[in-house]
Amino acid sequence: MAEQPILMFDSGVGGLTVLREARVLMPDRRFIYITDDAAFPYGNWEEPALLAHLLTLFGQLLERYRPAISVIACNTASTLVIDALRETFPSHLFVGTVPAIKPAAERTRSGLVSVLATPGTVKRQYTRDLIAKWAQKCHVRLVGSTALAGLAEVYMRDGFVDEEAVRAEIAPCFIEQDGRFTDIVVLACTHYPFLANRMRKTAPWPVDWIDPAEAIARRALSLLDGAQPGGRRDFAPNGPDIAVFTSGKPDHAIRRLMQGFGLTTVS
Ligand code: DGL
Repeated sequence: MAEQPILMFDSGVGGLTVLREARVLMPDRRFIYITDDAAFPYGNWEEPALLAHLLTLFGQLLERYRPAISVIACNTASTLVIDALRETFPSHLFVGTVPAIKPAAERTRSGLVSVLATPGTVKRQYTRDLIAKWAQKCHVRLVGSTALAGLAEVYMRDGFVDEEAVRAEIAPCFIEQDGRFTDIVVLACTHYPFLANRMRKTAPWPVDWIDPAEAIARRALSLLDGAQPGGRRDFAPNGPDIAVFTSGKPDHAIRRLMQGFGLTTVS
């Protein structure tokens, strides 16, 4: 078990925001980063098709890589499939990434919170249930963005970001009601923290941006420590950390990006 890698999963580069936190907490672990780029973006998929796709893909990934734990570093996937994954693969540990609505509801002073996510995450029953359970006393605005995940991909690959497009995508998060202003925006897509500086720059007023990456990494660490009563392992990992692309065709720019994150691309 201790030698098994941690599988980190996303449709694109967003899961790297979680990987970098996980590395800090678990430097002695080996990571396999799976990018389902053949299916990106998940945000626009119909739910039954995406659910079936993810269950099939995970059957293959678990068989092939035999990870100690799988981190679904994607809100759009987790809010749809996390329960089904646990039911289908009951002996495997999964950590999901779901909108950080509870911490937002605990922290807000104005009571006005926005959740910025893909259109898929915004329409999920899972997201609505989180609001009903944890944020009854707040006004939660769900903002579905069709463009931001793609803008983050371009930014990470090519270093370019269209600030006006970022401004337009985040604008609906900001509301004023009876002299109160939105004070928290939940970044409910793992791609978005890469654009956080541009969001701060183009926001109409300062807010607290919640990025759940560290909390997800901590959850993975605590599950692994619980699964291994001896605690963390104390020997070097076997082989390099790798990045795998479901398209089988990552280009030069994306390979370089992965290299920058300490991942060797295999295809
Ligand atoms: N990174 C994914 C998330 O956290 C979404 C990107 C996509 O639309 O595929 O929701």
